[in-house]
Amino acid sequence: MNLTREEERILAGELGEGMKTAMELLVAIGDAFDAEKMIPISRAHAASSGQEGDMYFVELLAKGGAKCRVPTSTNPVYDIELFHRLFKVPKEEAEVARRVMEAYKKVGAILSWSCLPYLTENIPLYGETVAFSESSATPYVNSVIGATTNREAAQSALAAGVMGKTPLYGLHIKENRKGTVQIKVEASLKNSFGYTLLGQFVGEEVGYGIPVLTGIKKRPNTEELINFCAMSNTSGAVSMFHIPGVTVEAPTIKDAFQGDTPKESITVTNADLQRTWEKLQSARGGKIDFVMLGCPHYTLKQIGQTAELIEGKKIHKGVAFWICTSATTRKLAERMGYVETVEKAGGGIVVDTCIDEPCWTVYRDQVGMTDSPKCAYYRRFKDVIVASLEQCVEAAVKGEYT
Ligand code: F3S
Repeated sequence: MNLTREEERILAGELGEGMKTAMELLVAIGDAFDAEKMIPISRAHAASSGQEGDMYFVELLAKGGAKCRVPTSTNPVYDIELFHRLFKVPKEEAEVARRVMEAYKKVGAILSWSCLPYLTENIPLYGETVAFSESSATPYVNSVIGATTNREAAQSALAAGVMGKTPLYGLHIKENRKGTVQIKVEASLKNSFGYTLLGQFVGEEVGYGIPVLTGIKKRPNTEELINFCAMSNTSGAVSMFHIPGVTVEAPTIKDAFQGDTPKESITVTNADLQRTWEKLQSARGGKIDFVMLGCPHYTLKQIGQTAELIEGKKIHKGVAFWICTSATTRKLAERMGYVETVEKAGGGIVVDTCIDEPCWTVYRDQVGMTDSPKCAYYRRFKDVIVASLEQCVEAAVKGEYT
């Protein structure tokens, strides 16, 4: 890579060990992808977690005196005190989470602990160059907002946030942002769960590519797009997609393919989505022990929908009912009365955490229900049923899914 004088000095350790480590990682990535040089970024999002691999790298940078040069938000870890009270998490595990959170604070990150930072705490604008990790964040930022990011890891995004730079390769180059496969949507997408299943299907089919979705009749809303992003970038590695007339870089199909004709096209029908749904189930029904919602973190609108569905009802004795969200969203949900409604019914709204965190292993041997295939994928429980929000609430009240 062609490095500037300042970048050479950083690499030589003249600005401290932390900066040097961050630069070494970025140069190694740049070399691997034949990047010509570094380019400035305006913000980053590190998919932090309360796990040891993440702790190792962020502590390395923090101990070396690195500080974020651009706003860098953080993914869910967990509220240690709350989880101690709820589940008595092992001391060593809580210590890892504490150290991760402390180290991110030390490097000057935004302590959002949220996987939807692009809606609230760290919002890119159209045309910005950024480095965002996290399954829903990368495709949302590229496709819906029209900023540019590669599919970063927690470590590469943090290194980029510290340097204020990233190697020039991949989705930072216009030609690489063109559609690779057409997805002809014949399935009727009746609600946001339809987009969840569509995302799951598209990720499985496309793997690593840029799908262009055609045939969608009704303009998807924010939550539907978030669900599509999270699932397609979990069942596959979809860092970007186009919906002509909806996403910003594709006013038309021609624009989505940058003038080329698609080499491949896949049709998705209701039967395909039904099969996708069936494959997600590891339990067919019966008694459930818990319901887990908010993967990705629920928006205010989704919490409001849940509160409306559950108002005046009682969660069945023996069923735990959790919604994960960000601290910012929970505050608003409190003001709106949604938190009270959910708690009155016997549920809870937790912040700063997600099912992928070790603190939830308490449900490992139990049967759970969720509206998120991503949650099911990361499951730390015996069996899981994936269904719509309405079905999850109904089952939570009955104590069983039929
Ligand atoms: Fe977010 Fe965790 Fe799910 S980061 S998307 S809640 S696995």
